[in-house]
Amino acid sequence: MLDITFAKPVLPAAGALVLPVTEDGLAAAAAWAGLDAATAGAITRALDAAEFKGKKGSTATILAPGGGLSRVIAVGLGKADALTPLGVEEAGGSAAALLGREPAATVADNGLTATLAAHFALGAALRSYRFDRYRTTEKAEEKPRLAGLTVLSAEPEASAAVWAGLKPVADGVFLARDLVSEPPNVLNPEEMANRCEALTKLGLRVEVLGPKELAKLGFGAMLGVSQGSANEPRMVVMQWLGASGAAKGKAKKETKQKPLAFIGKGVTFDSGGISIKPAAGMEDMKWDMAGAGAVIGLMAALAGRKAKVDVVGLVGLVENMPSGTAQRPGDVVKTYSGQTVEIINTDAEGRMVLADVLWYCQERFEPRFMVDLATLTGAMVITLGHEIGGFFSNDDDLAKNLHAAGEATAEKLWRMPLGEAYDKQLKSDIADMKHVGGRPGGAITAAQFLQRFVNSKPWAHLDIAGMAWSSKDSAVVPKGATAYGVRMLDRLVAEFYEG
Ligand code: BES
Ligand code: MN
Ligand code: ZN
Repeated sequence: MLDITFAKPVLPAAGALVLPVTEDGLAAAAAWAGLDAATAGAITRALDAAEFKGKKGSTATILAPGGGLSRVIAVGLGKADALTPLGVEEAGGSAAALLGREPAATVADNGLTATLAAHFALGAALRSYRFDRYRTTEKAEEKPRLAGLTVLSAEPEASAAVWAGLKPVADGVFLARDLVSEPPNVLNPEEMANRCEALTKLGLRVEVLGPKELAKLGFGAMLGVSQGSANEPRMVVMQWLGASGAAKGKAKKETKQKPLAFIGKGVTFDSGGISIKPAAGMEDMKWDMAGAGAVIGLMAALAGRKAKVDVVGLVGLVENMPSGTAQRPGDVVKTYSGQTVEIINTDAEGRMVLADVLWYCQERFEPRFMVDLATLTGAMVITLGHEIGGFFSNDDDLAKNLHAAGEATAEKLWRMPLGEAYDKQLKSDIADMKHVGGRPGGAITAAQFLQRFVNSKPWAHLDIAGMAWSSKDSAVVPKGATAYGVRMLDRLVAEFYEG
């Protein structure tokens, strides 16, 4: 994580300067805070030559303009009267990407309020993420060097206070990105559970259930998926009791207030099982645990910022492999709910994991709502691509709040339909249901299947198959693991359910 400090506006003696510029603020920006006339003039001429006008999303780099500066990065903020935290974060992200080999930089406070200065820092920090744990031969001079930003602010204390609330969320995003980036030989269910256990240091209660406990409970759906793998399954239950006072050391009791519940699909590798996937692109299925990764990142964020709310996070962790002990198409399993399911395609494993965890969650915690996240269907990717996540809900208020939280964090969501007609596609000739409804409406019938493991509780299912991994850089999300869901759900909690 970038080291972020806020300071009163003072001209940097040397090094890199980031110049956020609004569309109408170019002249003022160049004359900023006592740059000597020659340097300010050189910057103004260079920006002019680059036809830089402060438009949102535009950038310009000026090398060695004088005054001891190594580089000036101008980033456009757009119209001064239309500044938003998201827009400023994007500018911060673009600036961070352009700082390249600079070890540190100073961000001028042009037109940014104390709050927006903190959001600029957030954008820069989020964009600077890099997973390089397994690069052993990369030379130091090839690695990005940016380690710290000094963000100038007329009210540095106020900016720092805002940042104190944002940094834990960035930490949660980084944790989720780390988990999703890890290779599947390292991050198996056991290792993923270990990483959850490490979060007790943040004040989370963490329970880990292994195969024996899960068998005793009757998790037939989830265990059916993992039975072909040499790696044992785990279910992890994380609790943040920020309203009931567990944070103050009373960690023994269950939540007083009914908690909010988040449930994640954690398939640490999805080969498809006996219904094996084609070879091309199968390596992508290391990130079939991104729903669980987002839940874990969210729980870390909530604990890190000491959210005043009780929240439980449950993740079902399995590996889906073909072997002599693997589940077959045609098998019938008994789920934790008691309902039986005919297995049609062992590659439709995520819904089987979620079925047991959802039922367990509502039975044990009677939560105010349940939101599950899963890289569940290829059909969802076909529907909405990689721009917007799809979601399904049985509750209009929850749906409205989710949509708003998605808009506010640029982790966008679009509501998809549920309905009895789709549910009919799940009729089985041998069991209470089959788990696959054929190709038509594949993301919808998957959601219908999940709904059979939800009682009347408000519930939403986020199919994040298209959103968990990005093949291209964007302003605040470098290519790779996105941690989609962490910021959105942190916002959902903060805005609608906290305090
Ligand atoms: N993990 C996959 C879904 C997926 C596909 C995620 C592409 C990300 C990118 C899931 O377990 C799966 O295999 N779904 C099948 C279901 C089908 C067999 C009914 C699918 O979507 O093809
Ligand atoms: Mn699958
Ligand atoms: Zn899967």
